[in-house]
Amino acid sequence: MTRTVYVNGDYLPETEAKVSIFDRAFLMADGVYEVTSVLDGKLIDFAGHATRLQRSLSELDMRAPCDMDELLEIHRELVRVNDIDEGLVYLQITRGAPGDRDFVFPDPETTEPTIVLFTQNKPGLADNPAARKGLKILSIEDQRWGRRDIKTVQLLYPSMGKMKARKAGCDDAWMVEDGFVTEGTSNNAYIVKGNRIITRALSSDILHGITRAAVLRFAAEAQMEIEERNFSIAEAQEADEAFITSASAFVMPVVEIDGAVLGDGTPGMRSTRLREIYLEESRKTAI
Ligand code: PDD
Repeated sequence: MTRTVYVNGDYLPETEAKVSIFDRAFLMADGVYEVTSVLDGKLIDFAGHATRLQRSLSELDMRAPCDMDELLEIHRELVRVNDIDEGLVYLQITRGAPGDRDFVFPDPETTEPTIVLFTQNKPGLADNPAARKGLKILSIEDQRWGRRDIKTVQLLYPSMGKMKARKAGCDDAWMVEDGFVTEGTSNNAYIVKGNRIITRALSSDILHGITRAAVLRFAAEAQMEIEERNFSIAEAQEADEAFITSASAFVMPVVEIDGAVLGDGTPGMRSTRLREIYLEESRKTAI
């Protein structure tokens, strides 16, 4: 089936969707994005993603091409026409296509932002076999820019990190700066010691994960302790459990870090429980 996608006000077959070669995201990665998951044909935590999108736009002095209600309608329409039961909606907004290449931002009065949305059909996203096996993590140096709290489309380094991990026989990489883990290539990172969930505090060093916010709330409700602080790879290798969170992975257990096996090498009890709680609770509030 040909996907229907959304480009600048039009719903089109994916084969007919076009963006200018002068688009600022194509030439300069001058764009922001969001990924929202879909379960049971409904959007998970849309409000959280919309709020973060507005913040990303405002931090970059970029104009929103439509309001958040319209954005919700576009998400829902794409889920409907593409018949998505489980999957993702990808949204990208760029500073537009000024018709030439220039480092200076184009005048927002004359250059409209570009907006693109498409769906990704992923049956079995919730019942992911990887969650029963757990991930193997490789640590790499964090060489990204300093504003990781803005969700920009500059994803070359995370993409290279994922390839490094794959080449080393791992599933993903955790990035390390000044001796401490920042986050995963496309997810937030956590370790578990006893009843305590430890994760780096929010700052411009990491993306403020929408799944992170929900999971920490659910963990506190389940009487787990939360400690927002830095941790090293050495500390993570000694932890009882570890996991990652993101809109596409939800809560995904980690079983190995740089060759060190955590616990008995199977997903930890708390990570597994948090995945169950997250899926159950976020389904209840999906729209
Ligand atoms: N990535 N950290 C980074 C660097 C990310 O790219 C992501 C999300 C997260 C988790 O954020 P959230 O819980 O809001 O999804 C943390 C998305 C899923 C992606 O790029 O596909």
